Amino acid sequence: MIDYDLELRHHNDVLRIAYAIRASDRVVDVGCGTGQTTRDAARLATAGTVLGIDRSAEMIERARALTSAAHIGNVEYVCANAEEQELPRERFDVAISRFGTMFFSRPVAAFAQLRSALRAQGRLVMMVWQSRDRNEWATSIERALASDEASASAEPQAFSLGATDVAERILDSAGFLAPRFEEVRAPVFYGRDVDAAFEFVSEFSTVRERIAGLDSGPRAHAVDRLRDLLARHQAADGVWFDSRAWIVTAHRE
Ligand SMILES: C[S@@+](CC[C@H](N)C(=O)[O-])C[C@H]1O[C@@H](n2cnc3c(N)ncnc32)[C@H](O)[C@@H]1O
Repeated sequence: MIDYDLELRHHNDVLRIAYAIRASDRVVDVGCGTGQTTRDAARLATAGTVLGIDRSAEMIERARALTSAAHIGNVEYVCANAEEQELPRERFDVAISRFGTMFFSRPVAAFAQLRSALRAQGRLVMMVWQSRDRNEWATSIERALASDEASASAEPQAFSLGATDVAERILDSAGFLAPRFEEVRAPVFYGRDVDAAFEFVSEFSTVRERIAGLDSGPRAHAVDRLRDLLARHQAADGVWFDSRAWIVTAHRE
């Protein structure tokens, strides 16, 4: 299971402030993973509640264990597809997400559902990747793994909200008002050394699929090129890549 908390530590520092969660807020965290952001929200919503939703049973199990170990009581988790799970209407003050909203197959319907789960003054605060060409981690890993045999991969869903005009259109069609985009340029951390970073990026579905699609000779070369790339990004405190994300804020009304 990928541990996003270390990877995204710089992003999270900015995002936690952007949530602007108040003590009495009711919060929903979409695609909450193992729940770091859910717990962050719960610590701020001291008189409120937080619901974390993720479709991965493994992630939710880990989120529950970490939350109970942290003695946080105002959190509930649901293992469900946020696109299909019916949410209570007009229930939440804030919908948050750290890189959990880019994977919807029907984004307008999914965001419309999320909007109707918000109360009158409710807000959406989500972090999404900017486009792939603005994310060094994606382009350089892709280049390292490219070979004659590997066809160019389709634009991964991780970047589906990266173009502001596309994201704006989706949010607008879903009924959200006044979307704002704040750039976050911060490095992502992949591990303390090349071995740890290789293990980390090998869990990315794009990396797994690309390597699995190669015959043994080209696969060995691709792995060598990937390890070389990671070595070039090794700093004294670990392996880092540049990245660019948006914090997108929008209102129910
Ligand atoms: C990149 S991870 C981010 C996890 C977490 N927000 C974090 O920052 O640590 C994306 C997460 O979104 C979840 N996810 C993607 N699509 C989803 C959907 N339709 N419903 C619920 N969870 C979803 C995945 O299972 C995964 O845990």
